[in-house]
Amino acid sequence: MALLTGSNKIKTAVFISGTGSNLKSLIQFSKLKKSPIIIEMIISNNAKSKGLEYANIYKIKKRVFDFKNSLSEKKIIYQLKQNNINLICLAGFMKILSKSFIKNFKGKILNIHPSLLPKYKGLNTHEKAIKNKDKYSGCTVHFVNSRLDSGKIINQKKVRIKKLDTPKTLAKRILIQEHKLYPAAIMKVFSP
Ligand code: GAR
Repeated sequence: MALLTGSNKIKTAVFISGTGSNLKSLIQFSKLKKSPIIIEMIISNNAKSKGLEYANIYKIKKRVFDFKNSLSEKKIIYQLKQNNINLICLAGFMKILSKSFIKNFKGKILNIHPSLLPKYKGLNTHEKAIKNKDKYSGCTVHFVNSRLDSGKIINQKKVRIKKLDTPKTLAKRILIQEHKLYPAAIMKVFSP
């Protein structure tokens, strides 16, 4: 396999809203020689996102936008293009991107979702899986299209639901798998 150097890696922006544990795992993955991506920007809709700290720790550009209207989206698109961003990874990003934003980066936006899609699109996935007495839940990485959590699935990981699981305990076990699944999805799609 050809080794990728910084200059020919895919310039990537990671969008977050909160803790950023998936962001951290993507940053660590991006530092590996085999990684096809380099993370150039961290973008958040929330100035208080804990994950923004990783921008300081790893010296990555960060930007905060409210994503409230088309003007703010235009500003983001401008910044992304200025920085030659070719891939956007949504990682715990809790805003819905507009159709026109998605069109601007067609086929270049990935998302990680904490359920076995197509089951449980949207929010409160763990509550729903437990309430429905499912045997398994899990996580999915998929391409983003204009319909919520509905783009082409890249990979999934099943996680068994235990009898005494609460949404919190289940979320914790699924998150551990998310940290492996997202890098694996990127390798699957982009590795030479
Ligand atoms: C993750 O479980 C991710 O799958 C989920 O938010 C969490 C973020 O954790 N994303 C969604 O629910 C998107 N609809 P993190 O900030 O520690 O990566």
